Amino acid sequence: MVRILGISGSLRAGSFNTALLHAARDVAGEGIELEIATLHGIPLYDGDAEAADGIPAAVEALKAQIRAADGLLLSTPEYNNGIPGVFKNAIDWLSRPASGIGELFGGRPVALIGASAGGFGTVLSQAAWLPVLHTLGVDHWSGARLLVSRAGQTFADGVLVDEKVRQQLAAFVQGFAADIAARR
Ligand SMILES: Cc1cc2nc3c(=O)[nH]c(=O)nc-3n(C[C@H](O)[C@H](O)[C@H](O)COP(=O)(O)O)c2cc1C
Repeated sequence: MVRILGISGSLRAGSFNTALLHAARDVAGEGIELEIATLHGIPLYDGDAEAADGIPAAVEALKAQIRAADGLLLSTPEYNNGIPGVFKNAIDWLSRPASGIGELFGGRPVALIGASAGGFGTVLSQAAWLPVLHTLGVDHWSGARLLVSRAGQTFADGVLVDEKVRQQLAAFVQGFAADIAARR
């Protein structure tokens, strides 16, 4: 069994990126368990709050989910051609204390997918993730790309309705999981 933790970078109840992870779970197939994590409850990073109170409970809970997973599937929106602050903020908290980055992220398989309302399907957001992933020392899986554009037409009531994207998503998740399994 390959255990993948999907993290959506959007807090919206109607998020296309969260819906993309639900669809990924549906198409994953045998031998793949896909859990979906939330960023709700993670406060804005504040070094004073960290010094006074330590790591927030919501961040510790997400760290525990990450440790329990064989790989991470990040479903990223694109805001102003970059990584949404909510998602980057969560990563910043997860990277604290810096002495724990290696244990949490080092060599961990990570793949990126994303959905946007526009025509370019998070291409610039996904590119903006690359230096962050490099800094964390993860093992970025680049065996496929999934750029879901015009998400308003790809999803209906939170359900993926585009068959071509469904097939691309299945191939992506299965390819990522196969790569994780092959490294064991
Ligand atoms: C502040 C802001 C900036 C945005 N910038 C972009 C952008 O640069 N490129 C893009 O394709 N969509 C952009 N959008 C539209 C998002 O793709 C759209 O809101 C999408 O639904 C967000 O993902 P979600 O459905 O998972 O919340 C932006 C939306 C917001 C709120």
